[in-house]
Amino acid sequence: MDRLHPSSRRRWMAKIRRAPDRRGPWWAEILAGIAQSYPACCYVEIGVEHGTSVSVVAPCCGEVHGCDVADRAEAMPRGSRFWHMASDDFFARYDGSPPDLVFIDGGHSYAQARRDYENALRIIAPGGTLALHDTWPESEDATAADLCGEVWRLRKEIAAHKVTFETFPGLTLVRPDE
Ligand SMILES: C[S@@+](CC[C@H](N)C(=O)[O-])C[C@H]1O[C@@H](n2cnc3c(N)ncnc32)[C@H](O)[C@@H]1O
Repeated sequence: MDRLHPSSRRRWMAKIRRAPDRRGPWWAEILAGIAQSYPACCYVEIGVEHGTSVSVVAPCCGEVHGCDVADRAEAMPRGSRFWHMASDDFFARYDGSPPDLVFIDGGHSYAQARRDYENALRIIAPGGTLALHDTWPESEDATAADLCGEVWRLRKEIAAHKVTFETFPGLTLVRPDE
């Protein structure tokens, strides 16, 4: 801890001191910890919705981008950039820093998740981490389009170094460089 830059240390301490009822969902806390491990992490989230995850991760980042087909600008934390468009367009137009961490949680069809994954591979920084949400549906019912959808199929195909948290709704972390 003493080797951390003072501003990183303050942010870290603020995070771990948060009361349990102010913590985010488990996957967002994992993402926040990963973001903290990169100096001034550049974070990209595909599918912002109510901003539940991005609001937990953003305090651990230096640059934050969120993309959603719906207008979720108001859900984005202060200082972040919102891209109101489909993820295919976002990846085609992206002009931010190469992201250290990309969280893919937009369209949950197999084809969309696959495209988001492949597009993220193109822009990710060397040594970056890709995170896929909803990769562990737990039961047939949970593969409904409004729950985990078909992202689990993509998880099975990824050959790169990966780890999956096998708890509903699932989170798969991929390190393309390893
Ligand atoms: C499950 S919610 C995201 C939840 C958010 N990541 C969180 O953890 O708090 C999925 C979001 O993806 C958006 N979405 C669906 N298809 C998309 C696409 N092709 N491009 C961008 N956003 C998309 C939806 O509008 C919705 O807000």
